[in-house]
Amino acid sequence: MREDIITIDGPTSSGKNSVGFLLSQKLGYQYIDSGSIYRAGCIFIFRNKIDLNDVPSIVNIYQNLTIEIKTTDHQQKFFANNEDVTDVLHSPEVTQLVSPVSAIKEVRSAVKVIQKKLASQKTVMTGRDIGSEIFPDARFKFFLTASVEVRAQRRFKQLVTKHPSVKYEDVLNAMMERDKRDSEREASPMRVPEDALVIDNSNLTVEETVSKMLDYIHQAH
Ligand code: DC
Repeated sequence: MREDIITIDGPTSSGKNSVGFLLSQKLGYQYIDSGSIYRAGCIFIFRNKIDLNDVPSIVNIYQNLTIEIKTTDHQQKFFANNEDVTDVLHSPEVTQLVSPVSAIKEVRSAVKVIQKKLASQKTVMTGRDIGSEIFPDARFKFFLTASVEVRAQRRFKQLVTKHPSVKYEDVLNAMMERDKRDSEREASPMRVPEDALVIDNSNLTVEETVSKMLDYIHQAH
């Protein structure tokens, strides 16, 4: 069992990032959002205008991708191939590409190599398959979720500040589609790891969610 790994899986906008980051800070662990690794590759796929059917070129990007995460007190800077890409990770172009790209089996194998390398110290890692596929021997596993309406509302609030014309219904529909694709894909579909604690945080703040996790962790000791 890897005592030094805590996994948090769950659908998009379930609060994984805020919760994972705060939990890692409370425990003195590093925080890695694995979705950002998939997203980082998509930045280069988009820039190089690689066709989604050109699987070898896509896989090549992930096999040569270097990731570095720099954490300061309250935030993280995410570097891909030595470039600070923090501000583009969640751009609409990347978000549109990332779901089909992350369904490619060879992309997942290349990302797994990056994930294992990054987790050489005490780590909280968030994603879709971290507790089930990447670190099945992690000490603590969580699955974070919330109703799709609550999650769409959260994403809408983030988006509307940058893109005032965005509509809630469109965000909701896109989210339902992505949930479906992430959980129905053949390669490592999103699922609740067998031994994970499931937390529905539809009505919980980030602090309340982290507090539940810390209770669970401390009880086990
Ligand atoms: O959590 P996110 O929205 O940033 O994730 C972006 C995409 O990456 C998501 O559509 C599914 C994929 N992903 C994955 O397949 N496995 C992971 N461990 C993390 C993310």
